[in-house]
Amino acid sequence: MRVIITGGAGFIGSHLLDKLVVDGHRVSVIDNLSSGDKARIPDTVTLHTLDIRDAAAVAEIAAAERPEVVFHLAAQISVRHSVADPFFDNDTNVRGTLNILEGARPVGARVVLASTGGAMYGDGVPMPTPETQLPKTQAPYGISKYCGEQYLALYNRLHGTNHVSLRLGNAFGPRQDPHGEAGVVAIFCGLIAGGETPTIFGDGHQTRDYVYVADVVRAFAAAADYTGNEEVFNIGTGRGTSVRELLTAVNTAAGTDIEARFAPERSGEWKHGALDSSRAAAELGWTATTTITDGIRTTYKQLTA
Ligand SMILES: NC(=O)c1ccc[n+]([C@@H]2O[C@H](COP(=O)([O-])OP(=O)(O)OC[C@H]3O[C@@H](n4cnc5c(N)ncnc54)[C@H](O)[C@@H]3O)[C@@H](O)[C@H]2O)c1
Repeated sequence: MRVIITGGAGFIGSHLLDKLVVDGHRVSVIDNLSSGDKARIPDTVTLHTLDIRDAAAVAEIAAAERPEVVFHLAAQISVRHSVADPFFDNDTNVRGTLNILEGARPVGARVVLASTGGAMYGDGVPMPTPETQLPKTQAPYGISKYCGEQYLALYNRLHGTNHVSLRLGNAFGPRQDPHGEAGVVAIFCGLIAGGETPTIFGDGHQTRDYVYVADVVRAFAAAADYTGNEEVFNIGTGRGTSVRELLTAVNTAAGTDIEARFAPERSGEWKHGALDSSRAAAELGWTATTTITDGIRTTYKQLTA
């Protein structure tokens, strides 16, 4: 299969790239390297260094590569940054996604969008939350991802395409940026490995659905082959883990007992998250198989290797 991965030099995209190459697919990558790492792209894979906000450049690459599937992962990924600069978030995640859809259309490619489960539903909703729950997002990032999903669904109605969106839980695993502001597992692992004190924003009882990156990659692969009628899938474990529990798991993996300092809660955040992924189980044959303890152990080991 011929595929393009946008954001293929990033955390999740590069793991997806590795799997697709091993599985024998012809892969190329679109990435502006704003946070991605060129070293993650093997020599056999073509890297198109461009910005998804550039519609003409995206269309030109799509026409040249003629992919059957575009895995669309390039995005503005920070909840906090989306609050600070909603215009940039919108340009990248809404207009950028539209550019991908328009690039994919003439060549008949299916688009699989990396959307968000965590930032989608907001508070005061059933836990674990099913896809049928109307989103009540707390941040521009959730809105821009929802808008991207809606464009995919619209194109399915308007143009008869079969695009799908994956609402990912909080993905974690090796290669996630320990110096970034997102990815609390990576941040805690990085700080604890350096003997530093992690900061917990809020009371630490807030929960998220943490899903291991290898499981997320399997979900993308399953979505590419999907033949049914659903358009949106939650991709999570169904279980919320608190930030305090997470720190304990990282301490256990590291053999340390480092306590956190506490700071005020940040805006744009929500209190609890857990995704009901029974639709993905029924339709894609997908379930998360890596426990949080095993995933954190592997992540810590690779960071400190
Ligand atoms: N990591 C998570 O927990 C999580 C959860 C839900 C959804 N997602 C979504 O999954 C996708 C991948 O996330 P990630 O954690 O791997 O992020 P990442 O930052 O590691 O990867 C994003 C990649 O996209 C590239 N990129 C960013 N803006 C671009 C642009 N305008 N044009 C071209 N390339 C651009 C970056 O250089 C980077 O390589 C994103 O769409 C994100 O919103 C991630």
